[in-house]
Amino acid sequence: MTASTSLFILHPRLNLYYKPCTTILFPSRLNIYLRHFSQAPTVPLFSSISFALRRNRRLGIPGNFISQNLRTHSFSPCSAIPAQSVSLNSSDNDGGGGRSGALSSPPVMEVLEKIDVNPPKGTRDFPPEEMRLRNWLFHNFREVSRLFGFEEVDYPVLESEALFIRKAGEEIRDQLYSFEDRGNRRVALRPELTPSLARLVIQKGKSVSLPLKWFAIGQCWRYERMTRGRRREHYQWNMDIIGVPEVTAEAELISSIVTFLKRLGITASDVGFKVSSRKVLQEVLRRYSIPDNLFGQVCIIIDKIEKIPQDEIKRELNSAGIAEDAVFDLLQILSVKSLDKLEEVLGSAGDAVADLKQLFSLAEKFGYSEWIQFDASIVRGLAYYTGIVFEGFDREGKLRAICGGGRYDRLLSTFGGNDIPACGFGFGDAVIVELLKEKGLLPDLSLQVQNIVCPLDQELQGAAATVATILRQKGQSVDLVLQNKPLKWVFKRAARINAGRLILVGNSEWQRGMVGVKILSTGEQYEIKLNDLD
Ligand code: HAM
Repeated sequence: MTASTSLFILHPRLNLYYKPCTTILFPSRLNIYLRHFSQAPTVPLFSSISFALRRNRRLGIPGNFISQNLRTHSFSPCSAIPAQSVSLNSSDNDGGGGRSGALSSPPVMEVLEKIDVNPPKGTRDFPPEEMRLRNWLFHNFREVSRLFGFEEVDYPVLESEALFIRKAGEEIRDQLYSFEDRGNRRVALRPELTPSLARLVIQKGKSVSLPLKWFAIGQCWRYERMTRGRRREHYQWNMDIIGVPEVTAEAELISSIVTFLKRLGITASDVGFKVSSRKVLQEVLRRYSIPDNLFGQVCIIIDKIEKIPQDEIKRELNSAGIAEDAVFDLLQILSVKSLDKLEEVLGSAGDAVADLKQLFSLAEKFGYSEWIQFDASIVRGLAYYTGIVFEGFDREGKLRAICGGGRYDRLLSTFGGNDIPACGFGFGDAVIVELLKEKGLLPDLSLQVQNIVCPLDQELQGAAATVATILRQKGQSVDLVLQNKPLKWVFKRAARINAGRLILVGNSEWQRGMVGVKILSTGEQYEIKLNDLD
């Protein structure tokens, strides 16, 4: 950090300019710099430093922190006036300021300077244009949830860390933003919403009537390796159905995602859903009498199949206690891409085939068959899924998963609750925006204000405020010109905010209870009585 020496400050009493000559870094997140000057003034100028001292006391930083730091800096003379030695101990200040003794406190200014203006890596700001896009996306999430009769919920972003710690060795566990709070509790920023949902369902107990159809849009945090559409913070739209054991629930959920994608202009040739069931793997494990408690772990290992070499997968499965022949069968079955073939391998007796057949038959009735395909390699990376699992993917294969979900009938009991059948999905806000960009489907979301109201001279500012208020009461959006600006400026601004009408408040019209109107798209101009303006 370098000290800026270019700024001269006018001494309030002596009419002398002072030049800052040293910089002190305070241990605050904003990297606040204290700037102090080489000449002590005769007026009490300690407000900033005493503020800093008070703040540091609050933060538990020793009172002499500032003075020690000041002393360790070289107070190089940087103005015509020689530098003095200073003490900024709070006790020195408490004496009421002034020049008592050899040591006197220098004037101090607190300025914000040279912070990194980028948000932390992997996180985003939402300036207005980004915010408009986000609002538009969330509006569509909400609209589709409403169409399907879901109620909105939310949970805290900060949760107990234990909620996200599962034993199966999931990647998500290593990506946790977790820490100990001031009360020595282990907490974490939520990496997903499902555990919070489960917690709330347990908490509500019998007070809620099933089935629950809940949706949420919430920010999630994962310390991920960043790729296109994958960030360290993202928003997820979740829809979950609690209390329905039938596959009708999964079919309804996929239907809601398809409805959403269609609203955005995305078709079945852009996006597809790979569907499978974890019961496929379960049936293989049961053939080899592998205990159920290994199931989650096996799924997590198998989910890595596209990321690490198959030999490594085999080794991991072996060390989890899965015998060679079972590993062979598991890996074989993952390559199955049709339901008929699956039925050949597993037989038709088990739940896996029956569930999947029912889902594909329902998809026909819902009208989204062309969007879905069976793919046994879809397992998903979260330990809690128990049945149907699905993932949305872009058919060009350029992006990571668009969304994903499945059935998790046994999650609640892992938190000490009674199990209730449940399924749902998470749909991120980042990949879909990348896809919309790819397809040229991003909407034009420029700012639009219906009216711009401008007084023609400064005395009419109040009259213009009255006009703006009347229009706003009628539900019209108004940009009121708040400063005395030339008309050229007003027209420029009107164009920038896409205003529909310019309303001019001029003296002679105002005397007659009228205002001037210009329709900006056509150029049409007229006068209108204030009362008739709507
Ligand atoms: P997930 O597959 O981990 O599932 O995440 C769901 C979706 O969230 C992903 O498909 C992707 O769109 C988005 N997503 C995840 N991580 C990131 C990231 N780092 N950056 C950007 N987007 C991301 C779950 O989270 C489950 N809890 C979903 C669920 C709800 N299952 C049942 N109910």
